[in-house]
Amino acid sequence: MIGTNNIKINKQNFKTRPDCRVCAGNHLEKFLTLGPTPLANSYLTKEQLGQVEDFYPLDVYFCRDCCLVQLLDVVSPEVMFKDYAYLTGASNPMRVHFAEMAQDIIDNFSPNKDQLVIDVGSNDGTFLSNFVKAGLKVLGVDPAANVAPIAKAQGVPTLVDFFNEECALRIREKYGPAQVIVGANVFAHNDGLESFSKGVSELLAADGVFIIEVPYFLNMLDKLEFDTIYHEHLSCFSLHPLVHLFARFGMAVVDVKEMPVHGGSLRVFVKKSPAKPSANVQRFLAVEREKGIHLLETYQKLAQDIAVLKEKLGRVLRGIKQEGANRIAGYGATAKSCTLLNYCGIGPGVLDYIVDTTPLKQGKYTPGSHIPIFPEEKLRQENPEYVLLLAWNYGPQIMQKEALYRQKGGKFILPMPEPKTV
Ligand code: TYD
Ligand code: ZN
Repeated sequence: MIGTNNIKINKQNFKTRPDCRVCAGNHLEKFLTLGPTPLANSYLTKEQLGQVEDFYPLDVYFCRDCCLVQLLDVVSPEVMFKDYAYLTGASNPMRVHFAEMAQDIIDNFSPNKDQLVIDVGSNDGTFLSNFVKAGLKVLGVDPAANVAPIAKAQGVPTLVDFFNEECALRIREKYGPAQVIVGANVFAHNDGLESFSKGVSELLAADGVFIIEVPYFLNMLDKLEFDTIYHEHLSCFSLHPLVHLFARFGMAVVDVKEMPVHGGSLRVFVKKSPAKPSANVQRFLAVEREKGIHLLETYQKLAQDIAVLKEKLGRVLRGIKQEGANRIAGYGATAKSCTLLNYCGIGPGVLDYIVDTTPLKQGKYTPGSHIPIFPEEKLRQENPEYVLLLAWNYGPQIMQKEALYRQKGGKFILPMPEPKTV
């Protein structure tokens, strides 16, 4: 490994499930091994650098029955989500995205002032604050006790809890049914999808809508976005397994859209049955079948392509270092960078440092790879020759924001689907 810590494969804090979390079947095929890897959000303090660091398996499976791509080694949610370093509000593009999403919901589903809008995985309240501004009734649900006060401070009431059937029933008893339930970047993080879905069906008003956003597997397949696989992301969804899951709990996917966030996500609209799916739903399902999401060969080819990418990226970075006294910084201490850096063996000998806007991450070190994290200003002060774009999902925005750095000769390295210097 690349860090200097003693590595311990943690055997206590995770369990390996025997079946698929969507269909409960057991025709599961392992096609990719990316670990062992530390937890993506476990940034280290300077003192922790010399201590034992926990690593966990990162093996990826495909379900032959419902086509869900998933991890079966599930790290305890208490360990991953109670104390959380990710803040939605730290990324301006996500603030814009969620403001637009809120407006879309207000325009299309017109919740009135007595009806409840719930966000599961509400984080710092960035999304719900848009509804508060519109005078609507909201409730956030999130287990991160360290983040909830930030949400409350901006007027977003937040229940610090994991969402499941029991939690849903408690909310319904206290607040009544919800007209809108949203789960953006939370569904892929949940091992208890059966209890979650049952909870939604019990909490949702008869004519209510449940909207989720999840990174889309076809983007991983087409653009090799393999670093979106880390322990928090237990599932990588296509539409097929979602249709299957909701049908089990008396709900139906009524519409679907592709959104340009997190490297390409699906926004999926779900209502209680009977509900009529739009033509979009049929179109997405047909494309997925054409892409071979039900075939093991598709996944074996993906694994090969990822191994080739690792070799190419290593070659590019080593080449730059060997050329002369070049400095390479990283842009964005993203969760996905944990997978990329650890799997590709990129440490402080390759990346001098990483810049990131999140105050909670600054002054710390990346898990496993031990690269120091600084505020963005450092890049502008030092003008390193190269920057590896670890927050590639914000490529256009970051390139624009760092136009001056580029004018001064700084170059960005985009890691995938093929390493490219611009
Ligand atoms: P993000 O890509 O949202 O997700 P993940 O952690 O799930 O991979 O994380 C973005 C990180 O990049 C976050 O730590 C904030 C940081 N960031 C910057 O430092 N500068 C920027 O301009 C943007 C957009 C993000
Ligand atoms: Zn399955």
